Amino acid sequence: AMPDIDPASLFVTRTAKPKVPPPAKALVFGHTFTDHMLAIPWSQSTGWQAPQIRPYGPLHLEPSSTVLHYAQTLFEGMKAYRDKTGKVTLFRPDMNMKRMNKSAARIALPTFDGDALLDCIKTLIRLDAHWIPQEVGHSLYIRPTLIGTQKAIGVNPPNEALLFVICSPVGPYYPTGFKPVSLMATTEYVRAAPGGTGGYKLGANYAPGVVPQKEAAKLGYSQNLWLQGPEHYLTEVGTMNLFVVLRKNDGGVELVTPPLDDVILPGVTRDSVLALARDHASGKQPIAGMTGKLEVSERPITMKEVKEKAEAGNLLEVFGTGTAAIICPVNRIGYMGKDINVPAGQSGIGDLAKAFLQEIQGRQMGTIPSEWSVIV
Ligand code: COI
Repeated sequence: AMPDIDPASLFVTRTAKPKVPPPAKALVFGHTFTDHMLAIPWSQSTGWQAPQIRPYGPLHLEPSSTVLHYAQTLFEGMKAYRDKTGKVTLFRPDMNMKRMNKSAARIALPTFDGDALLDCIKTLIRLDAHWIPQEVGHSLYIRPTLIGTQKAIGVNPPNEALLFVICSPVGPYYPTGFKPVSLMATTEYVRAAPGGTGGYKLGANYAPGVVPQKEAAKLGYSQNLWLQGPEHYLTEVGTMNLFVVLRKNDGGVELVTPPLDDVILPGVTRDSVLALARDHASGKQPIAGMTGKLEVSERPITMKEVKEKAEAGNLLEVFGTGTAAIICPVNRIGYMGKDINVPAGQSGIGDLAKAFLQEIQGRQMGTIPSEWSVIV
């Protein structure tokens, strides 16, 4: 077998010009990078080569590199936290390693030992740990990326690839903080189609979302809501997964998210919200601030249902989930020329978006002990 990623062969070249991390309040999401990066080259003839940690800086790529032509690129997003004692943790990084391998397999890029990559990433984080802001809502956003670098413009599985990891100290994703955003339901474009690649974290899924997002912004909405099919199934919000909270006809409260299939990205925050909600629903671990019964459904949901629920006063909450923003409440959805207003925190069992944010943030920052928090 070809060599896999080998953390024991990692070598470190430290920067000769360390920078001073900017103050937390000056951070804009994804604009600042730490002193170092991780790079692991791969070739068909050698397998994975020795991992290198080196000063953050430009890559050298031939203009023929397949990534630049056919979007042979995929990425992950995960966060590291540093508590008051200096302890550094990652949130559910095993999920990112698994998803990254699935994405790689989907576009014929090389797969790898996820635990070995995680080992190398931990070494990188330890080296740049002083860059992790400690303020609430702040973290180090880690961006593993894998690209095809074959120096030939045939459309093939690349014979060369590069895995690299860069790190960015971040504050809250939206400068407005935990304030509800408005959505424009996009009927003209789809993010992903059945049989397509929407369930993988590929670069190719993101560039086509920029124009619909700009169009939503032009109409005064902050994000777009992605629909699917003539039934207008709700799928995702901007770059996030989607949750809807409904009052059922029998008076109960239902938390709905579309089921994982080929149009839905398997989000780590999505999975975490579902796990917490199911533990609450079963009575295994009730959520603070959530007082009533909750039914948890991974099921398709259409705009028709959302509209009817809203008209009957039974649309209780809508929120997005993602690594970058964690939880993002929604207060309005523009759909076919009309606005659907979404109340928040009026489910009678608490403000679910806020409760989930507190539960997840607590596990990320270490104030709520959890096996999801992994020591670096
Ligand atoms: C998310 O964390 O919600 C993302 O999809 C990352 C985003 C910056 C593309």
